[in-house]
Amino acid sequence: MKDRLQKIREEAIQKIQSSENLDKLNEIKVSVLGKKGALTEVLKGMKGIAAEERPKVGQMVNDTRTAIEEKIEEMRARLAAAAREAQLQAEVIDVTLPAKKNHVGHRHPNTIALDELERIFIGMGYEVVEGPEVEYDYYNFEALNIPANHPAKDEQDTFYINDKIVLRTQTSPVQVRVMEQGKLPIRMIAPGRVFRSDEVDATHSPSFHQVEGLVIDKNITFADLKGTLAEFAKELFGEETKVKFRPHHFPFTEPSAEMDVTCFKCGGKGCRMCKNSGWIEILGCGMVHPRVLKMSGINPEEYSGFAFGVGLERIALLKYEIDDMRLLYENDMRFLKQF
Ligand code: DAH
Repeated sequence: MKDRLQKIREEAIQKIQSSENLDKLNEIKVSVLGKKGALTEVLKGMKGIAAEERPKVGQMVNDTRTAIEEKIEEMRARLAAAAREAQLQAEVIDVTLPAKKNHVGHRHPNTIALDELERIFIGMGYEVVEGPEVEYDYYNFEALNIPANHPAKDEQDTFYINDKIVLRTQTSPVQVRVMEQGKLPIRMIAPGRVFRSDEVDATHSPSFHQVEGLVIDKNITFADLKGTLAEFAKELFGEETKVKFRPHHFPFTEPSAEMDVTCFKCGGKGCRMCKNSGWIEILGCGMVHPRVLKMSGINPEEYSGFAFGVGLERIALLKYEIDDMRLLYENDMRFLKQF
């Protein structure tokens, strides 16, 4: 009996030690200690042993069982650790790898500038309106006091659809369209795309954008124009910004002016940005010409108003210190990503 147990024990331990995985180990456990296992067989054979021998034999069986169980447990722990190690190796994650980039789009510099302008004027009670890009010659020129053969038409050569229809050269025709509707007073801005038959260079494009402004009410004076545009300049370029008006000529305003702002880069001392003048030109403006009011059905004796026109690209280029307008239209991601 003793020999038999010894044999079972040695065989079991040998198998346990050579088992290469947990499943195999479990099979061995069942084949030795299970209901039909070798050791259980021995216990069943106890019946044939003399009563006084039984405790001794029972003790031996138990010792064998314990020894085998211990070996199995030891092996199980070793195999489990090895399996875990293998799994970790197989599923290794490099947490230092750069994450997948999420390419979120954002607003174009032109759009950022426009949103800013709209925010400022809406804050002052203005309405935002739009007009057509393909426009009647009448609205684009005639009703703005630019008759056929007027030299101003030379500066704003455009693309003609036919004799009467053009691609608008300015957003000013929207003034006329709004005035014609006859709802007074008027306080509006009109952003939009305009066209000119210009060659492309760093400051010109055959298609660009303007923002028009128009205020019509009783007793509107040049003081209102100055106050409004000075406030606008401060909001856009900073509280310290000063403005200056230089006499100019536009056919649809009288008097007319161009407005400069103190250079926001050097504060007016003179730098590369302002070409050492301390000032930067940003818009055209003036008091709406009485003839323009009359043509649109508004009585100039009763009403007056002011108007202004801003080049949107010019604002975007200034604000972001971009020195070539073409960059705004090339859709080069390396450029656009910067804003
Ligand atoms: N439309 C003019 C241009 O394109 C800009 C302008 C100047 C608009 C004076 C105005 C204004 O409303 O009053 O050159």
